[in-house]
Amino acid sequence: MKKEFLQQFYKKSHAEKLHALYEAEVISQKTYEYLESRSIHLEPSVADHMIENYLTNFEIPLGVALNYVINGQEYVLPMVTEEPSVIAAASHAGKIISQSGGFHTTFPKRLVVGQLAFFDVKDSAAASQVLMQHTEEIIQLANASHPSIVSRGGGAREVKVRILPADKTFATPELLVMHLHVDTLEAMGANIVNTMMEGIKIYVQQLIGAEALMGILSNYATEALVTATCTISPEYLARGQYSGEWVRDAIVKAGQFAAVDPYRAVTHNKGIMNGVTALVLASGNDTRAVEAGAHAYASRSGQYRALSVWTTNDAGQLVGQLTLPLTLGTLGGTINSHPTVQLCYEILGHPTAKQLAELAVSLGLGQNLSALLALVTEGIQKGHMSLQANSLALSVGASPEEVPAVVSLLKKEAHLDTEAAKRILNIVRQTSQAQRPHHTL
Ligand code: MEV
Repeated sequence: MKKEFLQQFYKKSHAEKLHALYEAEVISQKTYEYLESRSIHLEPSVADHMIENYLTNFEIPLGVALNYVINGQEYVLPMVTEEPSVIAAASHAGKIISQSGGFHTTFPKRLVVGQLAFFDVKDSAAASQVLMQHTEEIIQLANASHPSIVSRGGGAREVKVRILPADKTFATPELLVMHLHVDTLEAMGANIVNTMMEGIKIYVQQLIGAEALMGILSNYATEALVTATCTISPEYLARGQYSGEWVRDAIVKAGQFAAVDPYRAVTHNKGIMNGVTALVLASGNDTRAVEAGAHAYASRSGQYRALSVWTTNDAGQLVGQLTLPLTLGTLGGTINSHPTVQLCYEILGHPTAKQLAELAVSLGLGQNLSALLALVTEGIQKGHMSLQANSLALSVGASPEEVPAVVSLLKKEAHLDTEAAKRILNIVRQTSQAQRPHHTL
């Protein structure tokens, strides 16, 4: 990537942004020429095959976050979001973190979990033992039910058994739950794992003499934990009257606040998911699966807590760490059929499924840094004033041509709200009417 062409990106016009992405070698000439002449659309004929009762497309803006250096490589990250300040905040954090060496990630394994649940096992401990004695057979049968993933180098890898104690509140007996861990390679894995779970169901039922309630993939991706870390020198954190050391310590406290208070943790994690979900959606992956898994992981101690941890190292640098359960795919679902998702893969440089998860977790950590940095210093409203004013102007009906004039007057207001925006839009319209030349016949 020739990142020198991406400098001051946010100041460029739309046409200049497209050209800069081409010059920086983020998109090909063909894609640039296409985007220059028209925007990418999901054709109704394709969408009609994606879902039932299709009516029309629901559009949300797609933009890019810049300045992301992850494991030594530069990335431009596509993000789909309706929230005005999210991409600006992501790029801001990317810049700070790239000055301090960028993000580093670890992703020890990526296995997708499938479950078979049993309610009526007479002796769970004995049944568990039987299952553990037959793990080889179970794995072989699972693989036989989906040979194509095996021929590509993936397949079932492990069997685990969990015994859940009876629970009076929910009137459940002791449950036996068998897990199958599957390497789905580049696929999200839902179809592969669901096929395998159904493929082994009868055999496992016979082994333990009980009927399975269901066989299904779990979106709680505990066998695919990906971690991003960043280490930031305080000099890059200084803001106005706040020294870098002061900001560093305040960010550590902000992390501690979110670790112990679920009310704060939800908002803290929502900020992380602003980044993660926007990239997950852009990559054609299942945002609901990722969010449900992330929030379950945030509750793993029994209390809902912050997903990220901010500490200080011996050198006095701020260290951020975020771990998420992520089994994103780069194949399957709507990924191949959705033209805008295809554009996003081009912008990302066609990452592998593991790399995609590493980018998502890094973006989540960056997004979190940006939010905390603003919150402990000037607050989030001030920095996002222009973006808020833009969206407020649009929301009261200003046309794209009227937006700049409305925004420049709105920024002089003490309070940015709908009333002020409506009043200003009227002024702008009256002024432009008064200035229009009067033609006499
Ligand atoms: C807004 O979308 C996200 C934040 O509220 C996150 C946070 O409070 O950490 C700014």
